[in-house]
Amino acid sequence: MSSSVSVANDNGVAVVTIDNPPVNALSFHVRKPLYEALTGLRDDPAARAIVIACAGRTFVAGADITEFGKPVQQPELRAIIALLETVPKPTVAAIHGTALGGGLELALGCHFRVAEKSARLGQPEVKLGLLPGGGGTVRLPRLVGPAKALAMIVSGTPISAGEAKAASLVDAVVDSDLLAEAIRFAREMADRGGPFVPVRERNERLVETDLAAFDAQAAELAKKARGLEAPLACTEAVRNAITLPFDAALAAERQLFQKLVSGDQSRAQRHLFFAEREAAKVPGKDLQKRRITRVGIIGAGTMGGGIAMALANGGLPVTLLETSEEALQRGLATIGKNYAVSVSRGSLTEEARQQRLGLFKGGTDYADLADCDLIIEAVFEDMAVKKDVFGKLDTIARPGAILATNTSYLDVNEIAASTSRPQDVLGMHFFSPANVMKLLEIVRAEKTAPEVLATVADLARRIGKVAVVVGVCHGFVGNRMLSARGAENEALLLEGATPAQVDKAFTDFGWPMGPFQMGDLAGLDIGWRNRKARGQTAVIADTLCEQGHFGQKTGSGWYRYEAGSREPVADPDVEALIRAKAAELGIARREIGADDIIERTLYPLVNEGAKILEEGIAARASDIDVVWVNGYGFPIGKGGPMFWAGLEGAGRIVERLEYWRVRTGRPIFEPAPALRRFAETGAWEGAGVR
Ligand code: 3HC
Ligand code: NAI
Repeated sequence: MSSSVSVANDNGVAVVTIDNPPVNALSFHVRKPLYEALTGLRDDPAARAIVIACAGRTFVAGADITEFGKPVQQPELRAIIALLETVPKPTVAAIHGTALGGGLELALGCHFRVAEKSARLGQPEVKLGLLPGGGGTVRLPRLVGPAKALAMIVSGTPISAGEAKAASLVDAVVDSDLLAEAIRFAREMADRGGPFVPVRERNERLVETDLAAFDAQAAELAKKARGLEAPLACTEAVRNAITLPFDAALAAERQLFQKLVSGDQSRAQRHLFFAEREAAKVPGKDLQKRRITRVGIIGAGTMGGGIAMALANGGLPVTLLETSEEALQRGLATIGKNYAVSVSRGSLTEEARQQRLGLFKGGTDYADLADCDLIIEAVFEDMAVKKDVFGKLDTIARPGAILATNTSYLDVNEIAASTSRPQDVLGMHFFSPANVMKLLEIVRAEKTAPEVLATVADLARRIGKVAVVVGVCHGFVGNRMLSARGAENEALLLEGATPAQVDKAFTDFGWPMGPFQMGDLAGLDIGWRNRKARGQTAVIADTLCEQGHFGQKTGSGWYRYEAGSREPVADPDVEALIRAKAAELGIARREIGADDIIERTLYPLVNEGAKILEEGIAARASDIDVVWVNGYGFPIGKGGPMFWAGLEGAGRIVERLEYWRVRTGRPIFEPAPALRRFAETGAWEGAGVR
């Protein structure tokens, strides 16, 4: 037997163990010996029952994603499951860790499932732009009912062993000794005697289904699909399980899977899966990490409060420092209110709320931070204030404490230079709301020690953030590219577009909202203040701000908002203002198509990414994709701006940038050398992070 699959006999119960680190994916070198082992055991009289278990940290976490897009090697998972269903003796899956995707499908091929209490079970294929392709859409509804199966398959979110037991997905949940318990269970079933009914023949949950209610549920889910094909295919497949005979539904699932797996959306989502894992591997990851047991946060405003919650949610004690007792209490009250809302929405238990609140301490004296291993500064975006804060930190922080700034734009090297320990200083750029948004840009300054980066990358993982290491420049990766994306926004309006037309081009592309809606949500005064500080102007936005139109918070901005509503309504006054400004500037307005809008916003976005790559501000093109998908809502089905550039055709992007450069005379459209090279070679080349 191969080292990936071994068989032992425990007093008449055959135990098949899969051992394919790190997550026991069903690679070809697992499928082949697994198929052979099961073929032998099916007819082996010495085996009265079969248990399938896994070595290492988890049960099978799915098909081997690296094999998708390559020629299929037989036997496929479907054949293994079909074989399992012909076994006349009891088959039992012993589940620990996670049974995901093809892993859960393998378990569904068994007669019974025994799970450890901490195990999680799910069909996350939708997150890879796929649907379960090993019979999951057809078998799962037979055990848990179509409504529950649909919710699990379309969300991709795994459920706990307890929930799985309540839903009849597992037959027994055990606290410990999983393998021994699974063997005992299998032996008991063998003693009890057959016939053992495979899941494919269990139709009782299907017959009782209310198809109209199912369709209503499916229609609700379809509304949230936002241009993604996979959730719709999942729905279709689960519906087939109700309306078609088993084999026909299985064949239809296969067809849908084949279509998705060879499509661009799944390719993009698989790219992101690996990109996120790659981004987490920061240089120096294997270095000795520093211990982080308490975190200090300076500033309990929007960001400080959110960062504190993110850390407490990850179980870390936090000390908040503010300038006055009043500001501190305000910050703590906001945190308390946010947790109370989570409890009222049912996303947090009362017990967890109290436990989290117990992790917060506050103070107004720097000495309160002396025992912190990491101190994150989130005060006003002002270099003088930040330098003052870091100068004070230098005098009180314990040796070896990591000092981080959450600055959005300021020079982290300059901030680090205001201390005597620049090796311990870096940027931790969280996104708002920091307790919700997954992205963390880890800003590596010139002198940041590698083990400091590694420690913070580890911490990010501990609190569930997706971390990307970036270099120092104005706005780092995300905000710098955001400026490039928005550089032509006003020009588009002056030349003939309306805010609503631009925003529609964005939502049609798959963004959750367009730049003008986004501006109204964030507050137009922020950009106004920044522009004034930098001596810049924006003819229309500045006028709106001068008139007190800051966006949603004032009831008007680029759009109008009815009292209490977040629904943007086109504002004739804004359109009149745009027309007046265009006339003042002598610009003849014309029809602007969606293509023009995309070319003048997203092509500069890609172009700026190329510059970032060649300057070594990001190590890999895929890191930039991770930033944009997790921090700015770039549609996952397009894989991030740098991946999308490949889909769109880099040659076309270069050509159109050149066209717009000639037409407008603006340098934003000058194609970056790295983009030109990408157009020639089809591969992004970067300089690596400095
Ligand atoms: N195939 C190939 N490699 C995989 C993999 C898979 N299904 N799942 C994880 N890996 C790799 C990761 O790329 C990573 O590799 P690296 O160390 O070289 O970067 C390594 O395994 C460890 O993964 P994580 O860092 O994610 O480990 P965690 O412990 O944080 O998480 C996990 C473990 C929850 C299992 C997570 O890896 C995960 O969610 N995996 C994907 C699960 C999934 O999507 N399964 C469905 C696959 S599609 C399918 O089954 C189709 C079927 O219906 C036919
Ligand atoms: P904010 O104005 O909501 O909060 C700042 C807080 O810092 C205030 O409560 C203030 O009392 C406190 N403060 C000021 N000086 C202080 C000092 N010397 N010591 C202790 N506390 C002090 O500002 P916000 O939005 O939280 O921004 C903070 C930082 O985070 C800025 O650098 C900003 O650029 C950055 N940032 C902001 C994002 C956002 O969306 N708001 C996103 C990412 C980063």
